[in-house]
Amino acid sequence: MATKILTEHIAVPGIETFDVYRKQGGYEAVEKAIKTMTPEALVEEVKKSGVRGRGGAGFPMGMKWSFLAKPEGVPRYLVCNADESEPGTFKDHYLMKNLPHLLIEGMIVSSFALGANKSFIYVRGELMYVIHILEKAIAEAKAAGFLGKNILGSGYDLELIVQPGGGAYICGEETALLESLEGKRGNPRNKPPFPAVKGLYQSPTVVNNVESIATTPWIVNNGGDAYAAIGIGRSTGTKLISASGHINRPGVYEIDLGLPVEDFIYADEWCGGIRPGHKLKAVVAGGSSVPILPANLIMNLTNGDKRLMSYESLSEGGFQTGTMLGSGGFIVFDETACIVRNTWNFARFYHHESCGQCSPCREGTGWMEKVLHRIEYGHGHQQDLDLLIDVAKKIEGNTICPLGDAAAWPVASAIRHFRNEFEWHITNPHEATQPGAVYKGDMALV
Ligand SMILES: Cc1cc2nc3c(=O)[nH]c(=O)nc-3n(C[C@H](O)[C@H](O)[C@H](O)COP(=O)(O)O)c2cc1C
Repeated sequence: MATKILTEHIAVPGIETFDVYRKQGGYEAVEKAIKTMTPEALVEEVKKSGVRGRGGAGFPMGMKWSFLAKPEGVPRYLVCNADESEPGTFKDHYLMKNLPHLLIEGMIVSSFALGANKSFIYVRGELMYVIHILEKAIAEAKAAGFLGKNILGSGYDLELIVQPGGGAYICGEETALLESLEGKRGNPRNKPPFPAVKGLYQSPTVVNNVESIATTPWIVNNGGDAYAAIGIGRSTGTKLISASGHINRPGVYEIDLGLPVEDFIYADEWCGGIRPGHKLKAVVAGGSSVPILPANLIMNLTNGDKRLMSYESLSEGGFQTGTMLGSGGFIVFDETACIVRNTWNFARFYHHESCGQCSPCREGTGWMEKVLHRIEYGHGHQQDLDLLIDVAKKIEGNTICPLGDAAAWPVASAIRHFRNEFEWHITNPHEATQPGAVYKGDMALV
């Protein structure tokens, strides 16, 4: 049975209200933290838990907190990254809409641990209704004495502000987010200095994902060691996975890290298998930014082990045979999916979303989109495949922020694993451009 750290009470009617949430044990972590623990002890518990940032990069949260600079007389900020715009990822939306008080409780505990008196939740601008849900929940928490001045009579003050996002994927990159929060265009900053030293308004700042922050009440209530006991190796705890594509049960699932990928796809508790009459062709395991994996590399690793839903197992084999857990956007493709069309579609997204600051990304994403478009529409050339790999290599690692890498990896991996399918489009343009035509060559289906 899977552990439910975040979603245990999600089906309780009225859980989005303060009273019902409180009856389920809500805000006990705030009481425990503020009345009985020091900020340093809280940071220590989060370190012990081993929880890694759930926004995509998987950086250890406790370590990030311990890097926060603490100069005298300078405010510190906590900013929650709720911009969630990665194609395939919709778990933060689900969490905020259903359990707004869990995020707010996490924000209070985390802000107290970091010594922040003003904290922000930067929410994807399109999600206006979620912003209203959060604002209502904040007002309820404030009325109950859990926010505002002198929380629970402790002398600790916290103001929590919800900020609608700027409406661009790049605003989810943490330094672009800070620029946007300051009222400027959301362009990523050069690093160093990192936000831990100079973040929002040039003050020390921690930026954490919604799901990361929402784990902290459980860690406070149960201890870092209990959290670290769940999961596998350095992939501790549970993870929300946004599952979509050709599966029987799309949705958001909380899994124990370490669950075999095969179980996640086929078990009735999770995705419930590939839709009837079809077979698995490929998976994008961590949101559109991560390398695509063909079915044979999902099920069997070279050493015969099963691939697991963990940071380490998904990346085993590097980019030759592995991928990344990323933000947990799990997109499943059966044999009716055209990899060329999907790769072009992703490339179109990254070209549209490039902020344009760095030439390799601004120009390269446009070239990749154009070349993929011509292959998809029957005008490709054999040399286009090497050209695409070349452009991807020139973007990767050569930009201020990782959006360039995120654009390059899906293209390079699709060609690496599905080269025959791309070549079929180039050599059979008439057949490939028929409506619904899909390559039926030698790919391994499971
Ligand atoms: C283009 C781009 C978009 C991103 N979008 C998000 C996002 O929507 N939400 C998020 O939490 N992290 C996003 N990130 C990652 C953040 O930069 C940052 O690593 C994260 O918010 C840190 O939180 P965590 O340590 O809790 O994961 C994005 C990164 C890039 C490069």
